[in-house]
Amino acid sequence: MKFASLVLLTSLTATTAFAPPRALSTTTALHSTLQSPPQRTAPAAGHIPEWENRPGLSPEEFMASDLSKPDLGGMWECPLTRWNSEDIDVREAQRMAKQVPGCPLEIRASEKDNAMGARYFAENREMIRSKLLEHGAIWFRGFELMKSVKGNREMHEALGLDPCLDPLHSSGLRKFASERDALYEEVNKPSLRQHYIGLHNESTAKRTAAYAAFVCFQRATEGGGRFLVADGAAILAELDTKVLEKLYNRKIRISVSNLDIPPALPGVVKEGIRGLVDVAVAPKFDMDLEMIYESDGKPGRLQAVETAESPINRHPVTGMPVWFNNAHNHARKLRDRRPCGVPEVGMTEVFYADTMEPLDLEDCMEIKRASEKHITALSMEPGDVLLVDNYRALHGRDVFQGDRFHAVTWFTWDQNEEWRGNERRIVEKNAFNQAINKMMDWLPKDFESNQN
Ligand SMILES: [Fe+2]
Repeated sequence: MKFASLVLLTSLTATTAFAPPRALSTTTALHSTLQSPPQRTAPAAGHIPEWENRPGLSPEEFMASDLSKPDLGGMWECPLTRWNSEDIDVREAQRMAKQVPGCPLEIRASEKDNAMGARYFAENREMIRSKLLEHGAIWFRGFELMKSVKGNREMHEALGLDPCLDPLHSSGLRKFASERDALYEEVNKPSLRQHYIGLHNESTAKRTAAYAAFVCFQRATEGGGRFLVADGAAILAELDTKVLEKLYNRKIRISVSNLDIPPALPGVVKEGIRGLVDVAVAPKFDMDLEMIYESDGKPGRLQAVETAESPINRHPVTGMPVWFNNAHNHARKLRDRRPCGVPEVGMTEVFYADTMEPLDLEDCMEIKRASEKHITALSMEPGDVLLVDNYRALHGRDVFQGDRFHAVTWFTWDQNEEWRGNERRIVEKNAFNQAINKMMDWLPKDFESNQN
């Protein structure tokens, strides 16, 4: 039971001239676990493009895989995170980050491009790969090819991208849309419709995908569901220098789950529980986790906390320092102030690594301001793909109504074997993963509204 809870909660753990940020949707009145809950307000976004109402295919049409192609199920393991964060001069880093081109770059399909199909991507491969490095993300709009699983795979094969597992694959929380095409479902689950997913890199302190291709096959049928992207360089340049220096010097740690143990239990029993969770559960997450009691001040609470990490990291290829962390998604003070449908066991928190105190409200609000100013809240329509350099750009997702089908393929380093490593997928994990995902699917549709 405790194990199930721990699993449940981590399920969440993803061109710009700026007008003042606008709210993405209306204020909501969800329940809160706090004594005096703060008001929940929809986060803002700096740029909100209009919808165009382009049609998609039926689920039967878009889900069909090309069975003449090999099964990609034995893909690479997600590569280890490439940390290069020592001795960064924060002011100089901010100056450099200001110079970079806007993110995302938009590429819109012409009739001729669409007539070329996958050949468009093969012939423009070098240009696209170099623009990706320059801008951090490319939004492909109006391409017929990627309206289906089959065509989406042709696109990334033409670009020479090499699929890998999700960094949290071993947790069992990630579900494939089409395993043989290395395609995962995004967070489309009805139980999480009303949960805003804040900005994050697809990364743990241990593993980070090099690139991602997010694709829309079906827009949310009753509204919402914008996909969020923001440039880690722009956020770095934007942040108040004092806050940035403080976070860089103190580093951060992120807790990924809470287990509430009755505080009255004898210490020896609580220690036994901690040992059990540490040995039996934590390894499933393939993260370096430490089990710590009562870091957030709640009596009896056992939290699984990642190792200390720098909030700024140099890009592995360009060397550019960027804002590279998941604080906007995980900080409790931000989650408590926006639509958040996660049960208490799944609530995350961000701590200053040196004292293990939760980030204070002022720092959280500065992270929110700087991050949301640089969000483009994409109006992704069927066939649209957002190609992301995962060490540069952060992503997230707004709340939605109705049904939605977006999917993602992660990619490893295709031009550097040392960075990619030699680990292939451990297929024994399958049965476990499938069992956990079945459990997630059984959650009632209004799960989030029943949480206190
Ligand atoms: Fe994500």
